[in-house]
Amino acid sequence: MKLLSRKATRNSHGQDSSYFLGWQEYEKNPYHETHNPNGIIQMGLAENQLSFDLLESWLANNPDAAGFKRDGQSIFRELALFQDYHGLPAFKKALVEFMSEIRGNQVTFDPKKLVLTAGATSSNETLMFCLAEPGEAFLLPTPYYPGFDRDLKWRTEVEIVPIECTSANDFRITESALEEAYEAAHKRNLKVKGVLVTNPSNPLGTTLTRHEVDLLLGFVIAKSIHLISDEIYSGTVFSSPRFISVMEVLKDTKYRMNAEVWNRVHIVYSLSKDLGLPGFRVGAIYSNDEDVVAAATKMSSFGLVSSQTQYLLSAMLSDKKFTSNYISENQKRLKERQEMLILGLGSAGISCLNSNSGLFCWVDMRHLLRSKTFEAEMELWKKIVYDVGLNISPGLSCHCNEPGWFRVCFANMSAETLNLAIERIKRFVQLIEINNNSKKNHQSTKNSRRRSLTKWVFRLSFDGRESDER
Ligand SMILES: Cc1ncc(COP(=O)(O)O)c(C=O)c1O
Repeated sequence: MKLLSRKATRNSHGQDSSYFLGWQEYEKNPYHETHNPNGIIQMGLAENQLSFDLLESWLANNPDAAGFKRDGQSIFRELALFQDYHGLPAFKKALVEFMSEIRGNQVTFDPKKLVLTAGATSSNETLMFCLAEPGEAFLLPTPYYPGFDRDLKWRTEVEIVPIECTSANDFRITESALEEAYEAAHKRNLKVKGVLVTNPSNPLGTTLTRHEVDLLLGFVIAKSIHLISDEIYSGTVFSSPRFISVMEVLKDTKYRMNAEVWNRVHIVYSLSKDLGLPGFRVGAIYSNDEDVVAAATKMSSFGLVSSQTQYLLSAMLSDKKFTSNYISENQKRLKERQEMLILGLGSAGISCLNSNSGLFCWVDMRHLLRSKTFEAEMELWKKIVYDVGLNISPGLSCHCNEPGWFRVCFANMSAETLNLAIERIKRFVQLIEINNNSKKNHQSTKNSRRRSLTKWVFRLSFDGRESDER
């Protein structure tokens, strides 16, 4: 008998979701243009590889930053020694300034209210540990990032209750959906501790409207609960409407004097998407509540950002000429890619939700389902993974309540690979159409044969009297 803990064996990690299964299938047969041209193309990974050249050229021009040097002198020993869990002040300053810049300098952030963590994964979990007891709940609008089942629930034993959003209003958050989720939690005897949203949304690739942010603030004020805004994609907003951070809305006179709500709103951020550095593991919690900041700082011992990473990035992000050029060039490239995918899918008769941000499109394949069920969605997903050779994420893995939606990533591959992926999808849809047409023809031949047979039977039984059956 294995003597493992309940947590180690608990099945709430989400590892068996199709989101992670797709990654495993990709790993077994990854596409490579020369070594494995028929392999699976990874479109289920929200990575941003479009602006590596900008980062690399900065590194080439600033060799001291990655070479453990300051003014030409080695600082290896300084970086190698034990690090204070408050983080390097120079890095925290550079990071909050970068966060302001992304928000068009509409808001400023105080480095004292920032807690560094090993990625947003750790930020979200740490906030759960700070704000909720095991068995208490957070409300999340659907569809949501599949990793949240692991990040928010697994080790903390916090529950997620869905705020059901639908395609009827482009998956926007409504007051009734919020109230229904709150009620649903109560019916399950779960105490609601807060709402967590991603803005911009993963997987929708849309930003929250000012109306939605107001709705959320009104709701958390009325219920005396927390609001977490995961703004990890805030730098990816490539077309209008512009991004409105919850921190910007809080400056409104309506909320300015409400210290309670200020203390109950927390932001999560990371450099995994905007800077395309998920391997560096740089995340952050920003909170106005000093108790949350103090508790999260202590907890951050379990997932610190290494000193050399902080040192390198503080130099990079302090270079304002670089950051301003990077932000606009990266957004331009993302926009081009999104348009390329939308156009390509459009030529295959597939449409996407209107989006203005993110590294993915929320793709509507409802018309390709055999029936309006999640079984049919899984069947279509398997065909797309194994027969078409594309790993995309089914809506079900994002807890979407309508079958037929898929998240398709566009920024983790070359333009050539994206074109190939589009070609594969087009061929697949053509084959479905040919198949459907031949089924129809077969059916109509069968029907007309049945009709003539019926006539013949009718003739036999009714002795030459024509039936009017058609
Ligand atoms: C909404 C959201 N939050 C958090 C994360 C985790 O990011 P990180 O790599 O910084 O841990 C992701 C990654 O895909 C994400 O999409």
